[in-house]
Amino acid sequence: MEEIKRVGVVGGGQMGSGIAQIAATCGFDVILLDSDSSALQRGLHNIQSSINRFVSKGQLSQAMADDAIMRLKCSTDLRDLHSADIIIEAIVESEGSKKELFSQLDRIVKDSAILASNTSSISITRLATTTRRPRQVIGMHFMNPPPIMKLVEIVRGADTSDEVFAIVKTLAKRLGKTIICSLDFPGFIVNRILMPMINEAFFALYTGVATKEDIDTGMKLGTNHPMGPLELADFIGLDVCLSIMKVLHSGLGDSKYLPCPLLVQYVDAGRLGKKCGVGVYSYGMKSSPTSPQPRI
Ligand SMILES: NC(=O)c1ccc[n+]([C@@H]2O[C@H](COP(=O)([O-])OP(=O)(O)OC[C@H]3O[C@@H](n4cnc5c(N)ncnc54)[C@H](O)[C@@H]3O)[C@@H](O)[C@H]2O)c1
Repeated sequence: MEEIKRVGVVGGGQMGSGIAQIAATCGFDVILLDSDSSALQRGLHNIQSSINRFVSKGQLSQAMADDAIMRLKCSTDLRDLHSADIIIEAIVESEGSKKELFSQLDRIVKDSAILASNTSSISITRLATTTRRPRQVIGMHFMNPPPIMKLVEIVRGADTSDEVFAIVKTLAKRLGKTIICSLDFPGFIVNRILMPMINEAFFALYTGVATKEDIDTGMKLGTNHPMGPLELADFIGLDVCLSIMKVLHSGLGDSKYLPCPLLVQYVDAGRLGKKCGVGVYSYGMKSSPTSPQPRI
Protein backbone atom coordinates (compact mmCIF):
# COMPACT_ATOMS: atom_id res chain seq x y z
CA MET A 1 0.00 0.00 0.00
CA GLU A 2 1.27 3.47 -0.93
CA GLU A 3 2.43 6.12 1.53
CA ILE A 4 -0.30 8.69 2.10
CA LYS A 5 0.39 11.93 0.25
CA ARG A 6 -2.98 12.97 -1.09
CA VAL A 7 -6.05 13.17 1.15
CA GLY A 8 -9.62 13.43 -0.10
CA VAL A 9 -12.29 14.76 2.26
CA VAL A 10 -15.97 14.37 1.37
CA GLY A 11 -18.36 16.78 3.11
CA GLY A 12 -17.32 20.41 3.54
CA GLY A 13 -19.38 21.12 6.69
CA GLN A 14 -17.97 21.88 10.11
CA MET A 15 -16.05 18.59 10.40
CA GLY A 16 -14.95 18.05 6.79
CA SER A 17 -13.62 21.59 6.39
CA GLY A 18 -11.70 21.27 9.67
CA ILE A 19 -10.21 17.91 8.67
CA ALA A 20 -9.18 19.32 5.27
CA GLN A 21 -7.58 22.28 7.03
CA ILE A 22 -5.38 20.22 9.34
CA ALA A 23 -4.37 17.84 6.54
CA ALA A 24 -3.32 20.78 4.32
CA THR A 25 -1.54 22.50 7.21
CA CYS A 26 0.38 19.28 7.94
CA GLY A 27 1.71 19.12 4.37
CA PHE A 28 -0.73 16.80 2.58
CA ASP A 29 -2.29 17.63 -0.77
CA VAL A 30 -6.01 17.85 -0.09
CA ILE A 31 -9.14 17.67 -2.21
CA LEU A 32 -12.23 18.87 -0.35
CA LEU A 33 -15.49 17.78 -1.92
CA ASP A 34 -19.11 18.66 -1.22
CA SER A 35 -22.17 17.99 -3.34
CA ASP A 36 -23.41 21.49 -2.47
CA SER A 37 -21.19 24.23 -3.96
CA SER A 38 -22.43 26.87 -1.49
CA ALA A 39 -21.48 24.56 1.43
CA LEU A 40 -18.06 24.24 -0.19
CA GLN A 41 -17.73 28.03 -0.36
CA ARG A 42 -18.70 28.34 3.33
CA GLY A 43 -16.24 25.58 4.22
CA LEU A 44 -13.41 27.34 2.37
CA HIS A 45 -14.26 30.63 4.02
CA ASN A 46 -14.17 28.95 7.44
CA ILE A 47 -10.81 27.35 6.65
CA GLN A 48 -9.32 30.68 5.58
CA SER A 49 -10.63 32.44 8.72
CA SER A 50 -9.37 29.67 11.00
CA ILE A 51 -5.92 29.64 9.37
CA ASN A 52 -5.76 33.44 9.73
CA ARG A 53 -6.52 33.09 13.45
CA PHE A 54 -3.66 30.58 13.85
CA VAL A 55 -1.33 33.04 12.07
CA SER A 56 -2.43 36.04 14.14
CA LYS A 57 -1.87 34.03 17.36
CA GLY A 58 1.65 33.15 16.17
CA GLN A 59 0.81 29.42 16.03
CA LEU A 60 1.40 29.16 12.27
CA SER A 61 3.80 31.11 10.05
CA GLN A 62 2.41 33.05 7.10
CA ALA A 63 4.51 30.87 4.76
CA MET A 64 2.95 27.68 6.19
CA ALA A 65 -0.52 29.21 5.93
CA ASP A 66 0.05 30.14 2.27
CA ASP A 67 1.41 26.65 1.60
CA ALA A 68 -1.69 25.06 3.21
CA ILE A 69 -4.06 27.13 1.07
CA MET A 70 -2.03 26.20 -2.05
CA ARG A 71 -2.36 22.50 -1.18
CA LEU A 72 -6.13 22.68 -0.87
CA LYS A 73 -8.32 22.06 -3.93
CA CYS A 74 -12.12 21.99 -3.95
CA SER A 75 -14.56 20.05 -6.07
CA THR A 76 -18.18 18.99 -6.40
CA ASP A 77 -17.26 16.05 -8.66
CA LEU A 78 -16.46 12.71 -6.95
CA ARG A 79 -14.29 11.67 -9.90
CA ASP A 80 -11.69 14.23 -8.76
CA LEU A 81 -10.91 11.87 -5.87
CA HIS A 82 -9.47 9.18 -8.17
CA SER A 83 -5.87 9.98 -7.19
CA ALA A 84 -6.40 10.25 -3.41
CA ASP A 85 -4.56 7.75 -1.17
CA ILE A 86 -7.20 8.05 1.54
CA ILE A 87 -10.70 9.49 1.49
CA ILE A 88 -12.13 10.71 4.78
CA GLU A 89 -15.90 10.88 4.61
CA ALA A 90 -17.63 13.58 6.71
CA ILE A 91 -21.12 13.89 5.23
CA VAL A 92 -24.43 13.80 7.13
CA GLU A 93 -24.81 11.22 9.91
CA SER A 94 -27.13 8.98 7.89
CA GLU A 95 -26.33 5.33 7.26
CA GLY A 96 -28.17 5.33 3.92
CA SER A 97 -26.30 8.39 2.61
CA LYS A 98 -22.94 7.08 3.79
CA LYS A 99 -23.52 3.63 2.28
CA GLU A 100 -24.47 5.18 -1.05
CA LEU A 101 -21.33 7.33 -0.98
CA PHE A 102 -19.02 4.44 -0.01
CA SER A 103 -20.40 2.36 -2.84
CA GLN A 104 -19.78 5.22 -5.32
CA LEU A 105 -16.30 5.92 -3.95
CA ASP A 106 -15.38 2.25 -4.23
CA ARG A 107 -16.02 2.41 -7.97
CA ILE A 108 -14.14 5.71 -8.48
CA VAL A 109 -11.02 5.70 -6.32
CA LYS A 110 -7.86 3.70 -6.97
CA ASP A 111 -7.66 0.11 -5.71
CA SER A 112 -5.12 0.88 -3.01
CA ALA A 113 -7.08 3.81 -1.53
CA ILE A 114 -8.32 3.64 2.06
CA LEU A 115 -11.91 4.67 2.77
CA ALA A 116 -12.26 6.25 6.22
CA SER A 117 -15.41 7.55 7.86
CA ASN A 118 -15.65 10.33 10.42
CA THR A 119 -18.98 8.91 11.56
CA SER A 120 -19.89 9.57 15.19
CA SER A 121 -21.73 6.31 15.67
CA ILE A 122 -22.57 4.32 12.52
CA SER A 123 -21.17 0.81 12.02
CA ILE A 124 -17.91 0.79 10.05
CA THR A 125 -18.48 -2.89 9.32
CA ARG A 126 -21.81 -2.16 7.61
CA LEU A 127 -20.34 0.74 5.60
CA ALA A 128 -17.55 -1.61 4.49
CA THR A 129 -20.03 -4.16 3.13
CA THR A 130 -21.06 -1.69 0.40
CA THR A 131 -17.51 -1.82 -1.02
CA ARG A 132 -15.27 -4.46 -2.58
CA ARG A 133 -12.49 -3.47 -0.17
CA PRO A 134 -13.75 -4.09 3.40
CA ARG A 135 -10.15 -4.57 4.55
CA GLN A 136 -9.47 -0.94 3.57
CA VAL A 137 -12.44 0.62 5.39
CA ILE A 138 -11.91 2.18 8.82
CA GLY A 139 -13.36 4.77 11.22
CA MET A 140 -11.37 7.95 11.80
CA HIS A 141 -13.45 9.97 14.23
CA PHE A 142 -12.16 13.51 14.71
CA MET A 143 -13.54 15.74 17.43
CA ASN A 144 -15.09 19.17 16.84
CA PRO A 145 -13.39 21.46 15.89
CA PRO A 146 -10.76 19.24 14.24
CA PRO A 147 -7.96 21.86 14.08
CA ILE A 148 -8.16 22.38 17.86
CA MET A 149 -9.22 19.08 19.40
CA LYS A 150 -6.38 16.68 20.07
CA LEU A 151 -8.21 13.36 19.81
CA VAL A 152 -8.87 10.94 16.97
CA GLU A 153 -10.86 7.81 17.78
CA ILE A 154 -9.89 5.03 15.38
CA VAL A 155 -12.52 2.37 14.80
CA ARG A 156 -11.67 -0.99 13.29
CA GLY A 157 -14.43 -2.67 11.32
CA ALA A 158 -14.75 -6.46 11.47
CA ASP A 159 -12.52 -6.81 8.39
CA THR A 160 -10.15 -3.82 8.67
CA SER A 161 -6.62 -5.09 8.01
CA ASP A 162 -3.69 -4.61 10.38
CA GLU A 163 -1.86 -2.75 7.61
CA VAL A 164 -4.66 -0.21 7.14
CA PHE A 165 -5.01 0.21 10.90
CA ALA A 166 -1.25 0.95 11.14
CA ILE A 167 -1.33 3.43 8.20
CA VAL A 168 -4.26 5.34 9.68
CA LYS A 169 -2.62 5.47 13.12
CA THR A 170 0.50 6.93 11.50
CA LEU A 171 -1.60 9.46 9.57
CA ALA A 172 -3.42 10.59 12.72
CA LYS A 173 -0.08 11.05 14.47
CA ARG A 174 1.23 13.11 11.53
CA LEU A 175 -1.85 15.29 11.96
CA GLY A 176 -0.68 15.87 15.53
CA LYS A 177 -3.43 13.85 17.18
CA THR A 178 -3.59 11.52 20.15
CA ILE A 179 -5.25 8.24 19.25
CA ILE A 180 -7.69 6.01 21.03
CA CYS A 181 -8.94 2.77 19.48
CA SER A 182 -12.44 1.37 19.68
CA LEU A 183 -14.14 -1.77 18.53
CA ASP A 184 -17.02 -1.24 16.13
CA PHE A 185 -20.02 -0.91 18.46
CA PRO A 186 -22.64 1.88 18.35
CA GLY A 187 -21.23 5.25 19.46
CA PHE A 188 -17.73 3.77 19.90
CA ILE A 189 -16.16 5.22 23.09
CA VAL A 190 -16.72 8.97 23.18
CA ASN A 191 -20.32 9.22 21.97
CA ARG A 192 -21.41 6.09 23.85
CA ILE A 193 -20.71 8.10 27.00
CA LEU A 194 -21.24 11.72 25.88
CA MET A 195 -24.59 11.45 24.05
CA PRO A 196 -26.60 9.84 26.87
CA MET A 197 -25.42 12.74 29.07
CA ILE A 198 -26.57 15.31 26.50
CA ASN A 199 -29.87 13.43 26.06
CA GLU A 200 -30.36 13.42 29.84
CA ALA A 201 -29.78 17.19 29.91
CA PHE A 202 -32.62 17.51 27.37
CA PHE A 203 -34.83 15.36 29.62
CA ALA A 204 -34.00 17.65 32.56
CA LEU A 205 -35.07 20.65 30.46
CA TYR A 206 -38.11 18.82 29.03
CA THR A 207 -39.45 17.82 32.43
CA GLY A 208 -38.90 21.27 33.90
CA VAL A 209 -36.19 20.30 36.37
CA ALA A 210 -34.33 23.54 35.66
CA THR A 211 -33.67 26.24 33.07
CA LYS A 212 -31.22 25.62 30.25
CA GLU A 213 -28.82 28.12 31.83
CA ASP A 214 -28.88 26.36 35.21
CA ILE A 215 -28.42 22.92 33.63
CA ASP A 216 -25.36 24.16 31.74
CA THR A 217 -23.95 26.15 34.66
CA GLY A 218 -24.46 23.14 36.92
CA MET A 219 -22.36 20.92 34.70
CA LYS A 220 -19.72 23.58 34.02
CA LEU A 221 -19.11 24.66 37.59
CA GLY A 222 -20.25 21.49 39.29
CA THR A 223 -18.29 18.97 37.22
CA ASN A 224 -15.68 21.20 35.57
CA HIS A 225 -16.88 20.64 32.00
CA PRO A 226 -15.71 23.47 29.71
CA MET A 227 -19.17 23.67 28.10
CA GLY A 228 -22.59 22.76 29.45
CA PRO A 229 -24.29 19.76 27.77
CA LEU A 230 -26.99 21.86 26.06
CA GLU A 231 -24.46 24.40 24.84
CA LEU A 232 -22.32 21.51 23.58
CA ALA A 233 -25.33 19.96 21.82
CA ASP A 234 -25.88 23.25 19.96
CA PHE A 235 -22.19 23.28 19.01
CA ILE A 236 -22.24 19.67 17.74
CA GLY A 237 -25.59 20.13 15.93
CA LEU A 238 -28.88 18.85 17.33
CA ASP A 239 -29.48 16.81 14.15
CA VAL A 240 -26.14 15.04 14.69
CA CYS A 241 -26.98 14.40 18.39
CA LEU A 242 -30.39 12.97 17.45
CA SER A 243 -28.93 10.72 14.78
CA ILE A 244 -26.38 9.35 17.26
CA MET A 245 -29.06 8.69 19.90
CA LYS A 246 -31.10 6.78 17.31
CA VAL A 247 -28.05 4.65 16.43
CA LEU A 248 -27.39 3.93 20.14
CA HIS A 249 -31.07 3.08 20.70
CA SER A 250 -31.46 0.77 17.73
CA GLY A 251 -27.96 -0.72 17.94
CA LEU A 252 -27.88 -1.43 21.67
CA GLY A 253 -31.61 -2.10 22.08
CA ASP A 254 -31.94 -0.46 25.48
CA SER A 255 -34.73 2.06 26.24
CA LYS A 256 -32.26 4.18 28.19
CA TYR A 257 -31.03 5.46 24.81
CA LEU A 258 -34.48 6.67 23.65
CA PRO A 259 -34.02 10.20 22.26
CA CYS A 260 -35.67 12.89 24.40
CA PRO A 261 -38.89 14.15 22.71
CA LEU A 262 -37.70 17.74 23.13
CA LEU A 263 -34.53 16.99 21.15
CA VAL A 264 -36.70 15.41 18.45
CA GLN A 265 -39.02 18.43 18.42
CA TYR A 266 -36.16 20.93 18.10
CA VAL A 267 -34.76 19.03 15.12
CA ASP A 268 -38.24 18.80 13.55
CA ALA A 269 -38.49 22.58 13.91
CA GLY A 270 -35.14 23.07 12.16
CA ARG A 271 -33.46 24.31 15.36
CA LEU A 272 -30.24 22.49 14.62
CA GLY A 273 -27.93 24.52 16.86
CA LYS A 274 -25.22 27.06 16.33
CA LYS A 275 -24.67 26.23 12.66
CA CYS A 276 -28.17 27.50 11.76
CA GLY A 277 -28.40 30.30 14.33
CA VAL A 278 -30.80 28.66 16.76
CA GLY A 279 -30.95 25.49 18.82
CA VAL A 280 -31.42 25.33 22.57
CA TYR A 281 -29.99 28.85 22.57
CA SER A 282 -30.42 31.59 20.01
CA TYR A 283 -27.38 32.92 18.17
CA GLY A 284 -29.07 36.02 16.77
CA MET A 285 -30.07 34.70 13.35
CA LYS A 286 -33.59 33.32 13.95
CA SER A 287 -36.12 33.96 16.69
CA SER A 288 -35.32 32.28 19.98
CA PRO A 289 -37.21 29.08 20.73
CA THR A 290 -39.75 29.49 23.47
CA SER A 291 -38.78 27.82 26.72
CA PRO A 292 -40.50 24.47 27.01
CA GLN A 293 -43.17 24.12 29.68
CA PRO A 294 -42.85 21.28 32.16
CA ARG A 295 -44.63 18.24 30.77
CA ILE A 296 -44.79 15.96 33.78
N1 LIG B 1 -20.64 18.04 14.53
C1 LIG B 1 -19.81 17.41 15.35
O1 LIG B 1 -19.51 17.88 16.45
C2 LIG B 1 -19.17 16.11 14.91
C3 LIG B 1 -18.08 15.60 15.63
C4 LIG B 1 -17.47 14.42 15.20
C5 LIG B 1 -17.98 13.75 14.08
N2 LIG B 1 -19.05 14.26 13.41
C6 LIG B 1 -19.54 13.53 12.24
O2 LIG B 1 -19.03 14.17 11.08
C7 LIG B 1 -19.97 14.03 10.01
C8 LIG B 1 -20.31 15.41 9.46
O3 LIG B 1 -20.83 16.20 10.49
P1 LIG B 1 -20.88 17.80 10.38
O4 LIG B 1 -21.24 18.30 11.73
O5 LIG B 1 -19.65 18.30 9.70
O6 LIG B 1 -22.14 17.99 9.38
P2 LIG B 1 -22.52 19.27 8.50
O7 LIG B 1 -24.00 19.20 8.37
O8 LIG B 1 -21.88 20.50 9.04
O9 LIG B 1 -21.81 18.95 7.09
C9 LIG B 1 -22.17 17.88 6.25
C10 LIG B 1 -21.79 18.27 4.83
O10 LIG B 1 -21.90 17.11 4.00
C11 LIG B 1 -22.41 17.53 2.74
N3 LIG B 1 -22.99 16.36 2.10
C12 LIG B 1 -24.13 15.70 2.45
N4 LIG B 1 -24.29 14.62 1.66
C13 LIG B 1 -23.24 14.60 0.80
C14 LIG B 1 -22.84 13.72 -0.25
N5 LIG B 1 -23.54 12.62 -0.55
N6 LIG B 1 -21.70 13.99 -0.92
C15 LIG B 1 -20.98 15.09 -0.62
N7 LIG B 1 -21.30 15.96 0.37
C16 LIG B 1 -22.42 15.71 1.06
C17 LIG B 1 -23.40 18.64 3.07
O11 LIG B 1 -23.63 19.48 1.94
C18 LIG B 1 -22.70 19.35 4.23
O12 LIG B 1 -21.89 20.41 3.74
C19 LIG B 1 -21.17 13.26 10.57
O13 LIG B 1 -21.01 11.90 10.28
C20 LIG B 1 -21.06 13.53 12.05
O14 LIG B 1 -21.67 12.54 12.84
C21 LIG B 1 -19.66 15.44 13.79
